[in-house]
Amino acid sequence: MKKIIVANWKCNPSSLSKARRLFSSFKDEIKSKEVIICPPFPYLPLLEIEKKGAQNCFYQEGAYTGEVSIKILKDLGCKYIIIGHSERRNYFKEDDDIIMKKIKYAIKNNITPILCIGEKEEEIKRRKAVLKRQMKGISSKVIIAYEPVWAIGSSNPCDYKEAKDILSFISGITESKILYGGSVNYSNYKGYLELGFDGLLLGGASLKKEEFIKIIRGI
Ligand code: PGA
Repeated sequence: MKKIIVANWKCNPSSLSKARRLFSSFKDEIKSKEVIICPPFPYLPLLEIEKKGAQNCFYQEGAYTGEVSIKILKDLGCKYIIIGHSERRNYFKEDDDIIMKKIKYAIKNNITPILCIGEKEEEIKRRKAVLKRQMKGISSKVIIAYEPVWAIGSSNPCDYKEAKDILSFISGITESKILYGGSVNYSNYKGYLELGFDGLLLGGASLKKEEFIKIIRGI
């Protein structure tokens, strides 16, 4: 099976022209690969590719100022949506209930949710209980991204032994594909794939053209 790379651009880059340049730097490289690009909403129409996703969504249409519904995203060609990223959980106070509504609505609209789960630093000792709670009620149509919160954007990736233990824990609960995310870069990405993860979720490294291309070439 081909390994999956999800590129989470987060709230970057700062202009349409920069987004265009970033995308054209790797667009030929991703053609034959399982690479899903998740830019900010306004850049979605720019990416003329099959495998693209949003970083968030709302589960209803209508009078919800500032929100973007799954139907709008579907119309823009999104096949995937990152749901429950720790930045959404922590800064925007999304709880498991809201996250589950988004997941259900995405599945109903034939969009694959990429559900991010992961424990905070203070939860490490009870992380399996945290992960189990975050996965409650999900089906195998969901792609899981295990992203320890303390490892995201921190230059402190999860060590391979711990990651392997968590991978087997998660695969004991679901048949979903399982990705690893959190400070993945060119020097450590292969190790996670060799542990058996189905792919990787990249934040920072997906914005660095040369590094991103090297990782894509290596999968
Ligand atoms: P990072 O981000 O690769 O920059 O650590 C990963 C993520 O937040 O999805």
